[in-house]
Amino acid sequence: MKDIVKVGLIGFGTVGAGVAKIMCGQQKPHLRGRAFCLDLIKIADLDITTDRGVDVPEGALTTRIEDILDDPEIDIIIELIGGYEPARQITLTAFEKGKSVVTANKALVAKHGSELFRAATRANVSYMFEASVCGGIPLLRGIFDGLNANIIESIHGILNGTTNYILTGMMRDGLEYNDVLARAQELGFAEADPTSDISGSDALNKIVILARLAFGASLDIDKVHCEGIENVTIQDINYARELGYTIKLLAIARRNDDGRIEARVHPTFVPSDSVMASVEDEFNAVEIIGDAVGSEIFYGKGAGMMPTASAVVSDVMDIASRILTGAPVNVSRIIIDDNSLESLDFSELSLKYYLRFTALDRSGVLAGISKIFGDENISIESVIQKGKAEKDHVPIVIMTHEAREGDMQRAMNKFGELDTVRGKVQLIRVQKI
Ligand code: HSE
Repeated sequence: MKDIVKVGLIGFGTVGAGVAKIMCGQQKPHLRGRAFCLDLIKIADLDITTDRGVDVPEGALTTRIEDILDDPEIDIIIELIGGYEPARQITLTAFEKGKSVVTANKALVAKHGSELFRAATRANVSYMFEASVCGGIPLLRGIFDGLNANIIESIHGILNGTTNYILTGMMRDGLEYNDVLARAQELGFAEADPTSDISGSDALNKIVILARLAFGASLDIDKVHCEGIENVTIQDINYARELGYTIKLLAIARRNDDGRIEARVHPTFVPSDSVMASVEDEFNAVEIIGDAVGSEIFYGKGAGMMPTASAVVSDVMDIASRILTGAPVNVSRIIIDDNSLESLDFSELSLKYYLRFTALDRSGVLAGISKIFGDENISIESVIQKGKAEKDHVPIVIMTHEAREGDMQRAMNKFGELDTVRGKVQLIRVQKI
């Protein structure tokens, strides 16, 4: 039986360098008290000249991915190149060659998970992706191994560190959006293209993966409602505070009473005294509600070089221990789609809303707005209009009772036609979480 498992790394960016630091460092965790040793023997990247501040074995660097795919000694490949292609093709080729794959590629797992899990199963190899959701938090393991006796009812939380860092900087420190974003990029939380953080698509990928794990749901990522934080302003943040809320980018997946699955990502008003409101900076938090266990919250660093590398290496260690003991691939890692599950359309949800209008300050304006709410069966909870108009327009803030999302969308279209209202009406959903 082998006692050394050889590993190849494809993608030597920020997380790749973190992985090399752990695997090639002085205090190799896989050498402490274990009967086996991991050996990172090859690293492929287009750029092999930049110094990443980590000592890698002599001759390990290559620009050719084939040097890793075709190496019969390598049992485990770490894919850290991101994106759909060529990552998908590399992963399928690795499986065909009998190699297990560890990835942090949430976009790939979210979009092509069904195909890749089937291919891994056919090849009798493992495909592990702990690092794809919430970096250093052992969340997927928690669901797979710790909560597998439960029927999961809900899984929701703050899944993106960059946007949480930005919202915290704006809310707590009164900083400007662009300044905090630049800082998040410097600190290495943000994706190479931060649009995927800001637009919510990073959190969307993660909630789709979590819905697969929690419910067996194979959600079509293009059909899940997703809004980012681009339009959240300091004004909204100040109103939220005044009303007893904090704004967070929440990702939510739930099993409805009728068994249908709802999933969505959007900025959300959460009560200021809630656990989610207390999650600051780049931290992530995920609440899972299981039928047996009740509510559990996972909290930790969801982004950054070393937290993400920590998750990658722990997956490698899991696979290595199975290879070395001759145990079958971890069947709990093989996800079977439950094709009987139906999705709940976003328009069918009942939610509470915050709306901010910029409207003319004259009689009849509020009446016009209220009429639209009444016509669409939406009940108003409270209205705030303060101060006198500057240049004729004033902000009007309205909180509603629970209303149907479809009705609210129709009302929003009608608000857009009012000539007493200037610009786009701001709408943020409210969640008691
Ligand atoms: N860019 C992500 C975040 C980290 O900010 O949470 C990787 O998923």
